[in-house]
Amino acid sequence: MSRVAFLGLGVMGAPMAGHLASAGHEITVYNRTAAKALEWVAEHGHRAAPTAAEAVEGAEYVMMCVGNDHDVREVASVAVAAMQPGATLVDHTTASATVARELAAECAAGSLGFVDAPVSGGQAGAQNGQLTVMCGCNEQSVFDATRDVIMAYARECRLLGPAGAGQTTKMVNQICIAGVLQGLSEGVVFAQKAGLDIDEVVATISKGAAGSWQMENRARTMAEGTFDFGFAVEWMRKDLAICLDEAERLDARLPLTALVDQFYKQVVERGGKRWDTSSLVHLLQNP
Ligand SMILES: NC(=O)c1ccc[n+]([C@@H]2O[C@H](COP(=O)([O-])OP(=O)(O)OC[C@H]3O[C@@H](n4cnc5c(N)ncnc54)[C@H](OP(=O)(O)O)[C@@H]3O)[C@@H](O)[C@H]2O)c1
Repeated sequence: MSRVAFLGLGVMGAPMAGHLASAGHEITVYNRTAAKALEWVAEHGHRAAPTAAEAVEGAEYVMMCVGNDHDVREVASVAVAAMQPGATLVDHTTASATVARELAAECAAGSLGFVDAPVSGGQAGAQNGQLTVMCGCNEQSVFDATRDVIMAYARECRLLGPAGAGQTTKMVNQICIAGVLQGLSEGVVFAQKAGLDIDEVVATISKGAAGSWQMENRARTMAEGTFDFGFAVEWMRKDLAICLDEAERLDARLPLTALVDQFYKQVVERGGKRWDTSSLVHLLQNP
């Protein structure tokens, strides 16, 4: 068992840190809004530190899960300066590959390991300890040791390449989801206009080639027009902006992703920034 610090106890971070505690690691948590850290300790025990620097002191692994590139840079700069040589920083934030490569270089200069490790599976996956973790790391041995810790909240944790590869894999994930959700939105509204029963349609075609996680879990709520749950549109727009930036760098074309991003912009203009990503259908239901 290891000494682990967890920085950022949001929707994702708090349950992930909880699984580390249940797995028997010695945990120190830090959250910018201190009340959340105290709440976490009241539920799980262990200890909270008032600053990120104090939280990482003596830790073998430092996991972080914050918001965007800016937040990662802000929190990591404090953590890296205070971490003990030989320790590993693991960033679970969905951020750019550029920030991951920068952090890997900074960590290497301080004799620290670094793994970019964005996750998929949402709040439910974090709570159930069933996340998919996509990793980039420059050293196989660092990844192998870190994977054992991450598996406390993962059902899959895989090394995809050097630093940045976890983030680029997460981009592929988001690109695929954007396209699937637009197709599903069009299918759901078409089915409604054709007078079909959505439950029956989903029960039938989800078993065939059109089946997807989104179809099984979202088609019914899309038909009802309920979106007050799940993965927020504002997070998706942050992720799609990262994808579109990286695509420019790679000279890769993402015409559908760019279009869906514009659709999400319209959802935000309708007041839907906290709605689930399946709210793309709202634009078709209420043109
Ligand atoms: N929610 C999902 O379903 C989901 C799924 C997959 C991936 N993700 C990704 O996971 C990351 C976290 O998502 P979340 O839903 O857990 O977000 P969240 O609930 O908003 O939590 C964000 C956490 O980061 C902290 N934070 C943000 N900026 C900070 C800064 N500059 N300095 C220090 N702390 C800072 C926040 O502290 P405060 O409490 O003080 O605000 C909070 O603890 C995001 O990159 C998101 O895209 C989310």
